[in-house]
Amino acid sequence: MAKTLCGQSVSDFGIGTWGIGGRSSPETGNDKAQVEAIRYALDNGINVIDTAEMYASGHTEEIVGRAIKEYDREKLFIITKVWNTHLRSLDLLKAAEQSLKRLGTSYVDLYLIHWPNPSVPIAETISAMEKLVGKGSVRNIGVSNFNVSELQDAMDAAKTCEISANQIEYNYGKREPELEIIPFCEKSNVDVIAYTPIMKGHIASYDLLRKIGQKYNATPIQIALNYVMKRSYPIPKSSKKNHIDELLGALNFRLREQDYTVLRDYLA
Ligand SMILES: NC(=O)c1ccc[n+]([C@@H]2O[C@H](COP(=O)([O-])OP(=O)(O)OC[C@H]3O[C@@H](n4cnc5c(N)ncnc54)[C@H](OP(=O)(O)O)[C@@H]3O)[C@@H](O)[C@H]2O)c1
Repeated sequence: MAKTLCGQSVSDFGIGTWGIGGRSSPETGNDKAQVEAIRYALDNGINVIDTAEMYASGHTEEIVGRAIKEYDREKLFIITKVWNTHLRSLDLLKAAEQSLKRLGTSYVDLYLIHWPNPSVPIAETISAMEKLVGKGSVRNIGVSNFNVSELQDAMDAAKTCEISANQIEYNYGKREPELEIIPFCEKSNVDVIAYTPIMKGHIASYDLLRKIGQKYNATPIQIALNYVMKRSYPIPKSSKKNHIDELLGALNFRLREQDYTVLRDYLA
C-alpha cells in the first residue's frame, strides 16, 4: 500500500504526538523516553510525524525537534497545526515562526488549521498560509476538523495553493466520515488524514475486529488500522516500542475485499 501525502511518497502511516511531553501544559519528566520512541518509529520506516503548536503548549514540538535532529530532513514529512486563536494573519505568521523554531527546522511539509474559527475570515487565514508557502517555510497547507462547507470555503479562498489535506477523526468506531466528508475529499483531491485511528487502543468491544483478525493472524488493532488505511492516511500515536511494533504489523497484510466489506457494512 504505497502512500502519498500532498503528492509526496511517504510511509504507510505516520506517527501522532498528542500526549507526548504533556497535554495542555508541558511535562518534562519523560522527554528522553519520548524522543527515543519517536526515533524508534523513524528507525523502523515511519517518516511522517504529526504534531501541533497546542500540544503541551509547544513542548511536544520541541520533543519532535530533538528527535529529528540527526535525521535527513528531506526524508521526513512533518505536519504541524496552528491553533484556532491564531488565525488572524499576523498571529498565524508568528505562530508558524515559533513552531519552526521549536521544531528546529526551516520548513514544515504540511501546515494545518487545527480547528475552524468562524470569527476569523477564512480568506485572511488562507492568505497568510499562502505567504508562508511563498517564503518556503511551509510546503503544503491544509485544514483539520473541517466539514464539507468549511472545506469548500477554504478551497474557494485558496488563490495560489491547493488545500492539500483535511485531518479528521476517523476510526473503526467512527465511520460517519465515510458518508460525506471522505467522498467529498476524494472528489476534491484533498488527502484525508485520520486522527485517533485506533480509538486510543480501546477496541476490545469490537468482536468483529478480533474475528477477522484470526484469518490474518493479526490483532484487532492491526485490523482497525488496516481498515482505516483504505480511505485515509492514519497517524496513530504510541510512545511504547511494543505498541509501535504492533502498529507496524498492520502493514504485513492487506484486507481482502470481502473482509473489508463485512467490516464496512457492520453496524455497531
Ligand atoms: N487534528 C486534531 O484535532 C487531532 C485530534 C486528536 C489527535 N490528533 C492527532 O492524531 C494522533 C493520533 O490520535 P490519538 O492520539 O488521539 O489516538 P490513537 O492514535 O487512536 O491512540 C493513541 C493511544 O493508543 C495507545 N496505543 C498505541 N498503540 C497501541 C497498541 N498497539 N495497543 C494498545 N494501545 C496502543 C497509545 O498509548 P501508548 O503511547 O502507551 O502506546 C495512546 O494512548 C494524535 O497523537 C495527534 O497527533 C489530531
